[in-house]
Amino acid sequence: MMKRGGAGVALLLAALSVLLSWNVAVSSVASAEARLQVGYYNRTCPRAEDLIRNIVHAAIRRDPGNGPGLVRLFFHDCFVRGCDASVLLDTAPGSNATSVEKASQANNPSLRGFGVINRAKRVLERRCRLTVSCADIVAFAARDACRIMGGVDFAVPAGRRDGRVSNKSEVLNNLPGPFVNVSGLVATFAAKNLTAGEMVTLSGAHSFGRSHCSAFSFRLYPQLAGDLNVTYGKYLRTRCPAATGGRRDRVVDLDPRTELVLDNQYYRNVQTGEVLFTSDVTLLSQNDTAALVDLYARNRTLWAARFAAAMVKMGHLDVITGGQGEIRKFCNRVN
Ligand code: HEM
Ligand SMILES: *[C@@H]1O[C@H](CO)[C@@H](O)[C@H](O)[C@H]1NC(C)=O
Ligand SMILES: *[C@@H]1O[C@H](CO)[C@@H](O)[C@H](O)[C@H]1NC(C)=O
Ligand SMILES: *[C@@H]1O[C@H](CO)[C@@H](O)[C@H](O)[C@H]1NC(C)=O
Ligand SMILES: *[C@@H]1O[C@H](CO)[C@@H](O)[C@H](O)[C@H]1NC(C)=O
Ligand SMILES: *[C@@H]1O[C@H](CO)[C@@H](O)[C@H](O)[C@H]1NC(C)=O
Ligand SMILES: *[C@@H]1O[C@H](CO)[C@@H](O)[C@H](O)[C@H]1NC(C)=O
Ligand SMILES: *[C@@H]1O[C@H](CO)[C@@H](O)[C@H](O)[C@H]1NC(C)=O
Ligand SMILES: *[C@@H]1O[C@H](CO)[C@@H](O)[C@H](O)[C@H]1NC(C)=O
Repeated sequence: MMKRGGAGVALLLAALSVLLSWNVAVSSVASAEARLQVGYYNRTCPRAEDLIRNIVHAAIRRDPGNGPGLVRLFFHDCFVRGCDASVLLDTAPGSNATSVEKASQANNPSLRGFGVINRAKRVLERRCRLTVSCADIVAFAARDACRIMGGVDFAVPAGRRDGRVSNKSEVLNNLPGPFVNVSGLVATFAAKNLTAGEMVTLSGAHSFGRSHCSAFSFRLYPQLAGDLNVTYGKYLRTRCPAATGGRRDRVVDLDPRTELVLDNQYYRNVQTGEVLFTSDVTLLSQNDTAALVDLYARNRTLWAARFAAAMVKMGHLDVITGGQGEIRKFCNRVN
């Protein structure tokens, strides 16, 4: 599928990267655009979206967990410092491996899909040097995962540039925790210009993927939370033994029914209390959000269309464009 080789050329390009990145950054100032565009790489890297889709497809075939991993990666990138690929950095100027976003408890060790993004970047650098941003790769890859695992497809406006800052202390201020109630969720999303409705819509992403036991064991011990389905809670206790001290943090599917499909089953699970987090079941405790849960539980088509629109909107969060930031050569470090 993907053509390998060209190692000599790659080495040469690596040697020239500093020089070239400077040139590209300067020349793109002329086309500075405050907004994103569908087909942004039409002329500069026409095969970019195809190449990314092929890589995401192969990665999901190898390990379906990459699909939900990539969707969550997009969410965690966009909510912290905007969709600027700051979540991908291993270190940054002024930050080390323990002080970047990646090191936050919200991301480490649970976030996954980094390898897929790095692979896509490697291929794109070979085809179209210093052209496609890591932030756009994350957005395209999340879209591809939605299409492959949920049949939810949409056009992704692009033209994001990559940031040069990543700060662990900004993560927990911006991302909601699994213990948060509906008013907390509404406020966290409102801070990102997303409505309560869009919050409910995007929560549907919890219809695939997994969670570590540590994220919800507060609902299992010392007693089952009152808003947890009793049968499901008993099952979860068998999957997540009480004492976690020194033991491996096990994982459980977010959706006990269709864990490999991104669909509206999540909303039915909310209604029967078969969801892992307080932040899921709490959607029933306010009239407007509960009504949406009911609507989406009954109409997958409607949910899918709104989910696609909300993903596109989330993808505009605090983006940097034009001459700001840079196009990274490697997604895990600044140029
Ligand atoms: C509403 C507030 C949200 C909270 C409190 C929340 C919290 C969490 C937590 C605690 C996990 C488990 C991580 C682990 O332990 O492995 C998780 C997983 C996940 N979340 Fe969320 N999340 C929220 C919203 C979202 C949104 C908006 C999206 C994307 C649109 C999303 C997508 C995912 C996905 C796909 C997974 C599974 C990841 C995997 O399998 O690797 N979540 N979430
Ligand atoms: C790229 O091409 C597609 C398909 O022809 C078109 O819809 C889109 O508007 C183009 N975008 C740009 C920025 O040229
Ligand atoms: C990281 O963010 C915190 C909290 O906003 C701030 O106090 C700190 O100076 C930042 N660190 C860096 C290296 O930017
Ligand atoms: C990493 O950076 C943080 C915050 O800037 C600092 O407190 C810490 O000492 C640094 N750690 C190492 C190992 O350099
Ligand atoms: C939601 O949580 C916040 C913060 O923990 C708390 O102050 C508030 O009273 C809670 N709201 C409801 C309706 O439970
Ligand atoms: C906030 O969301 C509204 C409605 O979706 C949109 O029209 C507006 O441009 C957004 N504002 C910002 C600053 O992104
Ligand atoms: C618990 O889940 C089961 C299986 O979906 C369901 O039949 C039952 O109604 C749920 N209990 C409550 C209280 O929702
Ligand atoms: C929510 O629904 C309850 C029960 O139907 C009703 O008593 C209450 O007035 C409603 N609240 C709002 C804000 O609509
Ligand atoms: C579901 O939503 C779609 C799109 O809004 C609509 O066309 C369709 O009639 C709805 N189906 C049902 C059963 O309500």
